[in-house]
Amino acid sequence: MTTPHWHDAFASWYADAVAHEADVPDAMQLATLDADGRPSLRTVLMKDHGPSGLTFYTNLGSRKAVALGATPRATALFHWKSLQRQAIVEGDVTPVADSEADAYWSTRPRGSQLGGWASRQSQLQPSREDLLTRLEQVEARFHGVDVPRPTFWSGFRIAPHRVELWQGKPDRLHERRVWRRLGDAWVTETLDP
Ligand SMILES: Cc1cc2nc3c(=O)[nH]c(=O)nc-3n(C[C@H](O)[C@H](O)[C@H](O)COP(=O)(O)O)c2cc1C
Repeated sequence: MTTPHWHDAFASWYADAVAHEADVPDAMQLATLDADGRPSLRTVLMKDHGPSGLTFYTNLGSRKAVALGATPRATALFHWKSLQRQAIVEGDVTPVADSEADAYWSTRPRGSQLGGWASRQSQLQPSREDLLTRLEQVEARFHGVDVPRPTFWSGFRIAPHRVELWQGKPDRLHERRVWRRLGDAWVTETLDP
């Protein structure tokens, strides 16, 4: 018997979350490790998912992107509270292709594109006015033309080697299904809560 692929189960749970979770079902907590092995955590939005992994986008100068340069591994965690579900995806991280990043960038609202240009994400901000001045500068620079994707903004894909889907149940008898990659194949296991 072929073991079901993790992505079939994940996609089904994500569809449930989109249908039932009122607030940002695509928000995931993303953990990274810096060059000293120190963990850090923040929320990002999952922008795509498929058998090859989960995709998110960010500023390539950000703290998370610098950490991923040093340690190209990450864990992403979704908590879909209304469904009493948690999904945890652990894997290796690679940059998405420029063409993929361009395609996603072109779907972003113009305001988000301009904000993406103006923000030096995770760098010290001298003042709020400084950021707003940079925004005015990019608005002037791209006045009347499409806003191209900055070279300092792109995406990453987490290709999982372990996926856990956690379903809350009464009396703490929760269900935990785990998929682990073994070479090209996947094994599934059940863990005690
Ligand atoms: C709901 C939500 C969604 C977010 N989505 C993104 C995102 O998709 N990409 C991103 O770079 N930051 C996103 N952020 C901001 C990050 O949490 C974080 O503040 C920023 O990326 C800087 O993180 P870093 O300094 O650890 O790199 C989001 C924050 C929230 C609360």
